[in-house]
Amino acid sequence: MDGQDRKFIFGTLQSIEGYIDPPDALVFSTLLHAQTRRDLAGALAEIGVYYGRSYYLMRKIAGSECPILAIDLFDQDAGTDGLPQQYQRFVENGRRLGLSVEESLVIKGDSTQLRASDITDRVGEVRFFSIDGGHRLHHVAADSALAMATIADHGVIVFDDTFNPAWPEVTVGVADFLRTHQDRFSCFCMTKYKTYVCRTAYHALYHDIIASSAGLSAFEQTDTDFLGSRVIRLHNPIGRRMLYELMCRSGMRAFSERAYR
Ligand SMILES: C[S@@+](CC[C@H](N)C(=O)[O-])C[C@H]1O[C@@H](n2cnc3c(N)ncnc32)[C@H](O)[C@@H]1O
Repeated sequence: MDGQDRKFIFGTLQSIEGYIDPPDALVFSTLLHAQTRRDLAGALAEIGVYYGRSYYLMRKIAGSECPILAIDLFDQDAGTDGLPQQYQRFVENGRRLGLSVEESLVIKGDSTQLRASDITDRVGEVRFFSIDGGHRLHHVAADSALAMATIADHGVIVFDDTFNPAWPEVTVGVADFLRTHQDRFSCFCMTKYKTYVCRTAYHALYHDIIASSAGLSAFEQTDTDFLGSRVIRLHNPIGRRMLYELMCRSGMRAFSERAYR
């Protein structure tokens, strides 16, 4: 991860309304770069794009040539004509940031109705799959099955809002997934908001990538057990969080990256 990535994560990316904060953006960046360095090929995919905050993070890190499949209902944000503006705002954000959207790789619809071939026919196998769509149990069950069926052997699945008390069924859905597929899938990293999972054969690799990443050294690391896997819990220290918030609120966002050095 270079200085340009950090500048983007702490600055430009924050201008998009959305839900990925700098700590998880740094984890995304660490994992995507590590895959690229090791020739762990494949597309990226996201269920739950909203206005594109994590989509454009992935675009920036993976580059304009990397196929990214975007799946969302795009039914939010009704304009004066009563029609949803979400999709236009998503595309406009990319234009404003100078980042591309491959519109033929956008699926406007309900992810729970998709088959694996709807994904693989468009982009092939997926190396990084972010699940942040519907937050009820049936959504997580369907979306995790879709991700499992479409990721490459070395693919990573990221679940959002796993331990958020506002969305208790996400917690149940992720636990169901890990318990049902405990023989094949393992969790390797958890943050306050997201849970990172891969095939067990790749657990040691991804665990070590997180443990040894210089870009994540600002976070406290604790090893914990979660449903049979050794997981790194990345803790965002309160001192750094306060400094970051203070800088952002006092008009010093451009320097906020320093809170996480
Ligand atoms: C929390 S937002 C995603 C945030 C986004 N990942 C970001 O980085 O800002 C959830 C999104 O999931 C979408 N969504 C909800 N249910 C869905 C479904 N069944 N299929 C596809 N998308 C869905 C919503 O339209 C919304 O845009």
